[in-house]
Amino acid sequence: MKPTANWEPAGDPAGSLFKRAAAPGPGTDAAWKRELGGGLPLGVSYAPGAAPATGAPAPGFPERRRSIKKRGLFMIKVAPSILSADFANLERDIQKISTADYVHVDVMDGLFVPNITIGIPVVKSIRPTTSLPLDVHLMIVEPVRYVEQFCDAGADLVTVHVESDTEENIHEALAKIRAKGKRPGVVLKPKTPAEAVLPFLNEVDIVLVMTVEPGFGGQKFMADMMPKVQEIRRYIDAMNPGCELEVDGGVDPSTCKICVASGANVLVAGSAVYKAVDIPARIRELRG
Ligand code: DX5
Ligand code: ZN
Repeated sequence: MKPTANWEPAGDPAGSLFKRAAAPGPGTDAAWKRELGGGLPLGVSYAPGAAPATGAPAPGFPERRRSIKKRGLFMIKVAPSILSADFANLERDIQKISTADYVHVDVMDGLFVPNITIGIPVVKSIRPTTSLPLDVHLMIVEPVRYVEQFCDAGADLVTVHVESDTEENIHEALAKIRAKGKRPGVVLKPKTPAEAVLPFLNEVDIVLVMTVEPGFGGQKFMADMMPKVQEIRRYIDAMNPGCELEVDGGVDPSTCKICVASGANVLVAGSAVYKAVDIPARIRELRG
């Protein structure tokens, strides 16, 4: 068997991959504190540019975050996932998110995840419908085979799962994306530890932390991924401060707060955006 960067078998259809969690609950800050067993100090900001605080939770986190934003140092980006759009009306639904920062495109091959969505021809078709960058999340095995074609089709950011191939081939995929003049990134499934980004951190512009098992929209946010987000934020600040930190899965106006508090600066949201009656207002709400 060839050496692999996998932390769990790629495309393993067993266990939690097939379990679709219940719809997200109300998710107040108090609920998150309960779920985390008080482990994450919500008052402490791990926001980009802000040194991780230690010790007791600092009071008044929201004020601090606002003041950082006011100085223009810390902008939250929203990347609506078109997995929750109406595929018969993709152009219309992409126009509905014109106030967002990225268009998040979920590509699934039925092997890496137990679902099949869209591919290269669809990326090519939607490219002229928006001026927003296309953030293409590849949930496919051995993405090195296809990354150049996704770049040529119009992807601006291309993220590949560290579990999807050998470490050597992941490096090669990232190099191919960079050689096309696009922004490469790596993605971590929930069971993959934070350290798995380290071999790639100097080569990427974005790290994506899954806050659900990849494969489906509309799942429950995994608050227990927040220590991993905080750890990766520390790695990024130390090793590659220009790198973005994105979270994906179950992100809504409630769960986005703990993501930002943990250091994420790009929020993917599918159902929370497309189910909203007023989509621009929902995007503003997520930005905080
Ligand atoms: C899951 C996808 C996500 C998903 C997010 O595999 O990567 O982008 O569409 O959808 P919500 O926000 O509904 O969890
Ligand atoms: Zn995604």
